[in-house]
Amino acid sequence: MYRTKSCGELNLSNKGEVVTLAGWVQKNRKLGGMTFVDVRDRYGITQIVFNEEVNKELCEQANKLGREWVIQVTGVVEERSSKNKNIPTGEIEIIVQELKILNESEVPPFTIEDNSDGGDDIRMQYRYLDIRRNPVRNNLELRHKIAFEVRRFLDSQNFLEVETPVLIKSTPEGARDFIVPSRMNPGEFYALPQSPQQFKQLLMVAGIDRYFQIVKCFRDEDLRADRQPEFTQIDCEMSFVEQEDVLNIFEDMIKHIFKFVKGIDFEGNFPRMSWHDCMKLYGSDKPDMRFGMTFVELKDLTEGYNFPVFDAANFVVGICAEGCASYSRKQIDALTDFVKRPQIGAKGLVYVKYENDGSFKSSVDKFYDQKALAKWAERFNAKPGDLMLILCGDDADKTRKQMNELRLEMGEQLGLRDKNKFAPVWVVDFPLFEWVEEEKRFYAMHHPFTSPKQEDIQYLDSDPGRVRANAYDLAMNGVELGGGSIRIFDSQLQNKMFELLGFTQEKAMDQFGCIINAFKYGAPPHGGLAFGLDRLVSMLAGLDSIRDCIAFPKNNSGRDVMIDSPSAVDKEQLKELCLEVKLG
Ligand code: AMO
Repeated sequence: MYRTKSCGELNLSNKGEVVTLAGWVQKNRKLGGMTFVDVRDRYGITQIVFNEEVNKELCEQANKLGREWVIQVTGVVEERSSKNKNIPTGEIEIIVQELKILNESEVPPFTIEDNSDGGDDIRMQYRYLDIRRNPVRNNLELRHKIAFEVRRFLDSQNFLEVETPVLIKSTPEGARDFIVPSRMNPGEFYALPQSPQQFKQLLMVAGIDRYFQIVKCFRDEDLRADRQPEFTQIDCEMSFVEQEDVLNIFEDMIKHIFKFVKGIDFEGNFPRMSWHDCMKLYGSDKPDMRFGMTFVELKDLTEGYNFPVFDAANFVVGICAEGCASYSRKQIDALTDFVKRPQIGAKGLVYVKYENDGSFKSSVDKFYDQKALAKWAERFNAKPGDLMLILCGDDADKTRKQMNELRLEMGEQLGLRDKNKFAPVWVVDFPLFEWVEEEKRFYAMHHPFTSPKQEDIQYLDSDPGRVRANAYDLAMNGVELGGGSIRIFDSQLQNKMFELLGFTQEKAMDQFGCIINAFKYGAPPHGGLAFGLDRLVSMLAGLDSIRDCIAFPKNNSGRDVMIDSPSAVDKEQLKELCLEVKLG
């Protein structure tokens, strides 16, 4: 046996036992005639001790041990004279009788400790060493626990886990596909699934009734802290359900996971908000509901005072930051710079301070008198001591998005985005279509299989932009954790959707022929959703980036710097695939 105990389990109750441990050398220090070595494995750290006076040869061997060498030791568990209360094994040490070096190690490129001296890049390059560190391994353990519990929960609800293929057909809607050339079918390509959407719907036609899969999905899109080119979904679909059934079961699942991992009980049902209200009040379809500061529209109150900036704008919107009237010039300038950043794009920021003496001080005092500003304050429901921050623009949606950024920044500055607080919200009634001005055409906001609300079907031809979908997202703390919809199961309505999305019949058949045909054979009413497992784990672990809960993630350029991919391939390989690379 390589080991009889792990490095994380010994305590005073084991005093006097002879044990064998195996692990990595974390630290090695010599104090007079004694050598103390910390040995680490997945479960913890145990101090082992060598005494020159008892066994000189063994001690000399121990002094040679370098960081990350792999060793096996046998010895007696003894009580420590100076105890370390910070680790579970801190009351004992092993007096070593035998030491075996299982493998030597080069000096690692960074220290393998909780607070490593290694930067992001080097840790990613040597991720297998990074994973030896507690914070990274803990995240992987949490991920395992969550995935395991999700499986247990869904199994208890009669969901069947079915694997769907990874080499599928390219359907260039939504994000870009990753494509894979087929050697046996020269000139043809598979695509990696952006999600198993069509397959899970086909499983409903197949009578599977309740399906789930913890599944890798692939999207060739720009990366952010909450986006990876390959990520994992908890993908689910159910037959004979309405929106209410889907929301209820998955709300239970999320509640169950939060209780299981964090011991958190959410009070009552998750709130629900229409997409329209989310945009109006938060400028985002994934609002951070941990704090208020909802939007207040002001255009009507700003008119008639000859302030050219507001007069020229179609839309004026503000937020009220409680207790921030004391913000200094410098702080307000910093907020102005913040909204003017190119990625936010506002032209400027107007502020109104509601002073403690009841007067107003603003950046637009030249145009608006105290009476006018008092009216604004009334609409904001502001109190003395508050700060009103106002943006304007021609495009209401754009201005709301800018205000959303400012609101989140203020939430951050005021410490309102507490990582231990969780504020879920179901966002419902999404629009069915999204108009893309550059292409002058409608796109499906969710995907082409999402059903319109029954009462809105009448507007499909006359006013498609008005049609709402049976689509829903679960947002939490400003993150979209999951989303889905009730699907169209009627062939005629599905054809109508394709038509509105600008597909000719041939193109629809070419891309979605399989599902169109399948729907001719008794498709049941069905719907579902998918959660982002990486996002769910990050939320529960309080991480800033989903990268930290993925064993081998990609960097912001989509590269795996550890295995150095993507990479060029052999000319021979390309030839076999009938491919030629032309750059530039
Ligand atoms: P959607 O595209 O909304 O829906 O994706 C579902 C969830 O997957 C997660 N997610 C991501 N996580 C990390 N990196 C990414 N690049 C990424 N993209 C998406 C999000 C998101 O909420 N087939 C539909 C679901 C359905 O209708 O049933 C779908 O894929 O948490």
